[in-house]
Amino acid sequence: MRKRMFWLASAAGIGLALAAVPAPAQTVKVGMVSTFSGLNANIGEYMERGMRLYMKLHEKDLPPGVKIDLLVRDDNGANPERAKQVAQDLIVQDKVQLLAGVIFTPNALAIAPLTIQAKVPLLISNAGTSIITTKSPYIARFSFTLWQSSYPFGQWAAKRFKRAYTMVTDYAPGHDAEDAFSKSFKEGGGTIVNSVRVPLMNPDFAAYMQRVKDSKPDALFVFVPAGKTATSVMKGFADLGLKDAGIKLIGPGDITPDEELPNMGDVALGVVTAFHYSAAADRPANKAFVAAWKKEYGAKETPDFVSVGAWDTMDAIYYVVRAQKGKIDADKTMALLKQYKNPDSPRGPISIDPETRDIVQNEYLREVRKVDGELANVELETIGTAVKDPWKQFNKK
Ligand code: PHB
Repeated sequence: MRKRMFWLASAAGIGLALAAVPAPAQTVKVGMVSTFSGLNANIGEYMERGMRLYMKLHEKDLPPGVKIDLLVRDDNGANPERAKQVAQDLIVQDKVQLLAGVIFTPNALAIAPLTIQAKVPLLISNAGTSIITTKSPYIARFSFTLWQSSYPFGQWAAKRFKRAYTMVTDYAPGHDAEDAFSKSFKEGGGTIVNSVRVPLMNPDFAAYMQRVKDSKPDALFVFVPAGKTATSVMKGFADLGLKDAGIKLIGPGDITPDEELPNMGDVALGVVTAFHYSAAADRPANKAFVAAWKKEYGAKETPDFVSVGAWDTMDAIYYVVRAQKGKIDADKTMALLKQYKNPDSPRGPISIDPETRDIVQNEYLREVRKVDGELANVELETIGTAVKDPWKQFNKK
């Protein structure tokens, strides 16, 4: 009898204890693959900072008891083997429910098959080659494609220049930039005088710049994968005297990343680019974003296009987590991502094209100018509104 009383009392106690404990915490694990070593190692920090700032400012927007755990891994530059390995470890050992990030296209292509095998959605925050999203139904892109900037830019350039020379990094996004710009520039009546592809690792820009100078084009169109490489281009362009020879340097915004402008110096003044994001844009959502960035990381710090890609990726992650109350299902996640829209991103209105899972966004024409004594990518006009990836439009099955 005494024993029975004991059991009843304990059971009641357990019941009370259970009632007092809030619903069990639901943690969503997100694996971020990015670049913190190797080529352009500084870019990864702009991505991680963008994600962490979003998480800090939006913690309250998650359902009660739901948490997001961001696991950050270094893929060591354009290194597909390493990227595949870290993504696999995140999936198998850490059991992440979502993958995000990825600076370099070869890395995104290496991870794509894993997203199908393991059914883990990947939200691309940077890598910009058009084909990436065709490689897995579990990929959606929150960054850009090179076709998106360079195709409308070629149309614009054909109205100003007769002869253009193209110089791109010899890997997939460079080939996309070259194809996109050349197509629309020629369609608009321009002539491509020469197209050169430079190696991804340690290109000697001086040697290439001399050849450009000798062929006297009106404009030199360049793509390189942002970061410090963009500053090397600017140095080569200045040292070989191309600016003084009256050659206009143009390209997608990857050649004038906001954070590299202070390292480039005045040679960057007058460089004209097309892109979806500038830290100098005066949209209220961007002003608030840049102010939050400076408050968090320091008055001299600036976000760039990688940061805004990361910020918007995290906004999409919060949206799918909220909609599923923290219980992530891969197919449901993809269905939700296809509906994703944000009229008020720091870069302007964005959405995901449900047919291609690629971002739809505006493209702005920008010029490097001095604003309050500092170099800035000043937006001059919108050269494309709600632009879908043109490559996918041209290659519809
Ligand atoms: C890419 O590898 O897809 C890539 C990297 C850096 C950029 C743009 C594209 O600035």
